[in-house]
Amino acid sequence: MVMATLITAEIQRFDPSHDSEPRFERFEVQGDKNMRVLDVVRSIYETQAPDLAYQFACRIGRCGTCGVRVNGVPVLACQESSKPFMRIEPLSPFRVIRDLVIDRAEVEDRYASLHFAPKRNKAHPREAEPVEPALAEEICHMDRCITCMVCVSACPAVKQRAFDGPAFMLKLRQMAKHPADHGHRLEQALEGGLLECFGCDLCTQLCPTDLDPAGAIREFRRELLLGRGRK
Ligand code: SF4
Ligand code: SF4
Ligand code: FES
Repeated sequence: MVMATLITAEIQRFDPSHDSEPRFERFEVQGDKNMRVLDVVRSIYETQAPDLAYQFACRIGRCGTCGVRVNGVPVLACQESSKPFMRIEPLSPFRVIRDLVIDRAEVEDRYASLHFAPKRNKAHPREAEPVEPALAEEICHMDRCITCMVCVSACPAVKQRAFDGPAFMLKLRQMAKHPADHGHRLEQALEGGLLECFGCDLCTQLCPTDLDPAGAIREFRRELLLGRGRK
């Protein structure tokens, strides 16, 4: 039998069309230890605060839309276990549309401007291109990024410096590894603030899909030391 437990959640409320400042509203939920953060937020929405704005789609850690900060730590709300006390905020440093919903337009524009598809110097052969199996595996693994922005929200360098953030570095590194890509990915990474990374590894520790953006940054730096153009 799952033991009932009282969960206290302080949720950041903010409607930029009415409020001058964000504030926290306190809720109590009779839950159980199996509840995820998203379950708690949904319960509050359904029973106490029908005007609460939050976002999710898949509930299985695939869509990347449910990111929030819980007690200061960025997480996927649908995957993170609830705690007896939670202070829930939208992912920083993004613009807040309302309550827990951030504006992802800037993120999407940045992804589009970095051209995250192989830049070819000749047309696709219209048949499968041979790729060494270990490299194919590595590229496919990196493709598991769900663009949730948990790593960007965790990154201390993003807060302090002109740095796009780990998610973008990871994607650039993925493209740099692609045998058909002839884009200038190291240069793009440098323009995006590659050298501003502190190397703290927080992004890798918190990535919900077990990716290693900090390792991708280290690979770019190694490439910089050993000579441009090396992959
Ligand atoms: S690297 Fe991980 S934490 Fe960062 S956006 Fe991708 S899935 Fe999210
Ligand atoms: S390793 Fe670099 S990119 Fe990752 S969180 Fe730390 S400073 Fe940010
Ligand atoms: S709801 Fe899709 S990742 Fe959480």
